[in-house]
Amino acid sequence: MNSPTPRPSTELRRASAFAPSNIALTKYWGKRDSTLNLPLASSISVALADLGSYTVVQPAADLDSDVMLVDDQDLDPAGMVKVRRVLDEIRKLSNSQVFSGLRSVNTVPAARGLASSASAFAALAVAAAHAYGLELDGPALSRLARTGSGSASRSVPGGIAIWHAGQQPDGADSYAEQLYPADYWPLRVLVARIGGRKKISSTEGMRLQGGGGSPYQHAWIEQCHRDVALCQEALALRSMRRLAEVVEGNALAMHASMLANRPPIIYWQPATLAVIDAVRQLRAEGCDCCFTIDAGASVVVLCEAQDARVVAQSLAEIEGVEEVLQTRVGPGARLVDSRGE
Ligand code: DP6
Repeated sequence: MNSPTPRPSTELRRASAFAPSNIALTKYWGKRDSTLNLPLASSISVALADLGSYTVVQPAADLDSDVMLVDDQDLDPAGMVKVRRVLDEIRKLSNSQVFSGLRSVNTVPAARGLASSASAFAALAVAAAHAYGLELDGPALSRLARTGSGSASRSVPGGIAIWHAGQQPDGADSYAEQLYPADYWPLRVLVARIGGRKKISSTEGMRLQGGGGSPYQHAWIEQCHRDVALCQEALALRSMRRLAEVVEGNALAMHASMLANRPPIIYWQPATLAVIDAVRQLRAEGCDCCFTIDAGASVVVLCEAQDARVVAQSLAEIEGVEEVLQTRVGPGARLVDSRGE
């Protein structure tokens, strides 16, 4: 692991990054440390090629606190706490006391079960590290992104990534790395967008469940350990049949443990079930596809390239599906020219 190289504060500069959103094939839903976002189990994801966030970081000596606009709105106080956590760490590493103005533009609507916070925090970590003159390696950037939002750790490496749960209390061994590059398996990722703003954020959902609310919590985490291994086997074989079993089973087990929580955590809408049904039907007819659902009503469907058109068409016909976004697996977070300003 490279140690960061602090530079004098005169080298502060404006920096922009793009980071992809990612969809977990096996989920992160349970923390062993909620300040550092350390998970109870490892998780595996695919990064989405063009769905994500652009973030610009401008350090400015005249600011007396960090300020951030997300899609042209002031970031809410809970979000700002997470952003400061990442920036404070960067300031510590770079010996700087300078605050920043930040602007983030999402290419996916926030809070629709698409984890826009994952891409936003990964882009923030990459842009801010550069803005403050740090040269950090992939694991270090992934750890930084993780302190903003756990799933953001997986958006840093991109492609098909694994986030190692790790065991150390300070999270040094809890970061994501790429298992396979984006072109390893040319899957299509279809997002059937359902419903409005979700009522319970992932952070809050995990807090509710972590407090002993769900009788299935222990079984759920044990299942994750098994599923991470099974998912790696399915990926090594590029077997959609095996992938479907583990990806769908893992998402359903996560939602089962949410449903059993007291108070219950219910994200699904009628259209969510209708999409599940349609995917199962498509598979019975010979289409290689599978579904997964994050903390929201939207359903993400993975399929082989040759089946994408048929799958997209049948999803679009379902009542309650507002839109079907289509993309591929893409690379990880990277510095870009300023955009979204
Ligand atoms: C259901 O990473 O958004 O999408 O760490 O509290 O910011 P925080 O939560 P977040 O949780 C994502 C939960 C999930 C599953 C996943 O992406 O693995």
